[in-house]
Amino acid sequence: MKIKSKILIIAGSDSSGGAGIQADIKTITSLGSYAMTAVTAVTAQNTKGVHSIVSIPSKEISNQIEFTSKDIKPDSIKIGMLHSTQVVNSVIKSLKKLKLKKIILDPVMVAKGGAKLIDDKAILVLKKKLIKRVDLITPNIPEAEILTKIKIQSILDMKNAAKILLELGAKNVLIKGGHLGSKNMNDIFVNKKEIVIFTNKKIKTKNTHGTGCTLSSAIATYYGCGKTIKKSCELGIRYVNNAIRKRPNFGKGNGPINHLNSFIIEKKFR
Ligand SMILES: Nc1ncnc2c1ncn2[C@@H]1O[C@H](COP(=O)(O)OP(=O)(O)OP(=O)(O)O)[C@@H](O)[C@H]1O
Ligand SMILES: [Mg+2]
Repeated sequence: MKIKSKILIIAGSDSSGGAGIQADIKTITSLGSYAMTAVTAVTAQNTKGVHSIVSIPSKEISNQIEFTSKDIKPDSIKIGMLHSTQVVNSVIKSLKKLKLKKIILDPVMVAKGGAKLIDDKAILVLKKKLIKRVDLITPNIPEAEILTKIKIQSILDMKNAAKILLELGAKNVLIKGGHLGSKNMNDIFVNKKEIVIFTNKKIKTKNTHGTGCTLSSAIATYYGCGKTIKKSCELGIRYVNNAIRKRPNFGKGNGPINHLNSFIIEKKFR
């Protein structure tokens, strides 16, 4: 099999393998691309929650990004967990220095079990400086609420939040609907020209650990392969949906999804 593209992941490690860097590598690999990593933090966690988090120093995160990308230039980048102001700033600096393009930002803030993954000052820097440097931001509803300071309880609220994110300088926004509590899952894609709602039936399961990480790395992969950002969102959502459908039943808490389930997509992708 010929490798389709090279993707750099800047994110935290999830020891349980369902989310974080581990989910990203599995997603990118199963979609036929080559994954590279800059680890921002190491978490000890399982499907029931996060036990501990060790942050990697910002200089070392930049070293990973720069040393890796100078040698193998990524076709696109996925950014996940960035825990501190220092880390956000040094990631921005490295992206600028290497003129890296095609960036997807998943503004990870809180883990499914409730553990906080970013400090408040870092959220402000992310909002002020990073959002405008990326091609797409993919907040879930609680993250969109924090970034826009509005309460989101409906599709209309999601659209309004997305517009506020565009005003903050975002080029494209995908607000994920997993937290809305409705029968259908509505993910809303917005840019200055269009609004598209991707709707799927909600699958009844607690095994959705890592859906957000998986989605952003799938989108980054399709985008790195040359699809438009909108098409990449559509295909990424379909990949996650299939992965939830074929989920294994691992762990006693919120179990992982099935990253190997890429073959149906593969045919349609061509
Ligand atoms: N039960 C479900 N059935 C179908 N699709 C789902 C379900 N839960 C989440 N999704 C989809 O998974 C994707 C990720 O959305 P979600 O809102 O769960 O992200 P997230 O909160 O960032 O996830 P994470 O907790 O992994 O960070 C979206 O496309 C969403 O529609
Ligand atoms: Mg998330």
